[in-house]
Amino acid sequence: MTNQELIEKIKTIKEAQPGNLMARHFDAAYFLSLDEHSRQRLVRIIASGIENPDSQMGAYAMNPQDYDQFATMLDPMIRDSHGIPADIEIAPQNDWDTGGTACDLGAIDERLKDVSMRVRVARNVSTFPLPGAMSREQRVAFESVAAQAFTKLIEDPEFGGQYLSTTPGSPHEIDEDEYEHRVKAHQMFKDMSADPYLNVAGISADWPHGRGMYVSRDEDFLVWVGEEDHLRIMAMQHGGNLNVLFERLRAGLETLTGLLPPFATSPTYGNVTSCPTNLGAGMRASLHMKLPGLTSHGSDLTRLKQEAKKLGLSVRGAGGEHSGAGKDGLVDISPSARLGVTEMEIMQRLYDGAAALWAME
Ligand code: ARG
Repeated sequence: MTNQELIEKIKTIKEAQPGNLMARHFDAAYFLSLDEHSRQRLVRIIASGIENPDSQMGAYAMNPQDYDQFATMLDPMIRDSHGIPADIEIAPQNDWDTGGTACDLGAIDERLKDVSMRVRVARNVSTFPLPGAMSREQRVAFESVAAQAFTKLIEDPEFGGQYLSTTPGSPHEIDEDEYEHRVKAHQMFKDMSADPYLNVAGISADWPHGRGMYVSRDEDFLVWVGEEDHLRIMAMQHGGNLNVLFERLRAGLETLTGLLPPFATSPTYGNVTSCPTNLGAGMRASLHMKLPGLTSHGSDLTRLKQEAKKLGLSVRGAGGEHSGAGKDGLVDISPSARLGVTEMEIMQRLYDGAAALWAME
């Protein structure tokens, strides 16, 4: 494709798909002002949004430096996606002090004592390219680095557990049945090669090499290796107390951080992730709640989505991204904001939002 053809193609996408932020913020003059090498790099970053016109973001970084080097295009996309005006400094901040405020849903209603709660953070190490630009050798080499760290975690009585790999020939390799069992248990990630967005970005390349998951003895602390980011570190519990959940993640993350190469961070955004939607805290905290009233028994999410949006929450089906609601109106709710908010603000928003939706229900 010539530069002119590419520019035309993105223009067509912009008209047909106004929600595609890549197309919305693509500027032909900027693109043409870059040298040939930089143009090729930018095309790789935005390829997913070009080949998948229905993308909401439409870009994945290939290297942590991309966010600086292509800031002219990426910064406006990031701000648009996260709702941060151009003249406001993002100033990344962290706050993991779970003791400050009680967020116990079980104290609101008995029925909220046993919800499925999950919180994850995305992290990438600074010693490898981001997943979209890794070779098979690099994926497997990174997996070894991670597996080494998990050996230490497994020896720690607070964690224990095991590392499971999908890499053919790995000493930790699991078979197809075990993999399927872990996917059904909502622990292991799905086959990435089935995701058209990740495919075009090169993020799912070499599947299933260099992929795996650490799972603690109690199966409440997990780490994905080689999905959309090098690491997705998460705590999962059935209960209602968000403080306990977040504290588990904080402790696990702290222990693991000391065992790994330094994480990739940006002074502008905080934690660096493949997808610009995850920059910053890199955190997604969610609850699975049954809201049959607000969803007409799971058949229609329109009303719920409207109400949730006012509370700063996003709604998904319980089967993950792009899934529909379960039959009892089982949905996944999570605070939309990732950037420019602290970890504790995310916890508070999830609690306040869930309480408000429960009252409406
Ligand atoms: N690339 C997709 C899009 O632009 C996914 C964006 C958010 N989801 C994610 N898993 N990063 O719509």
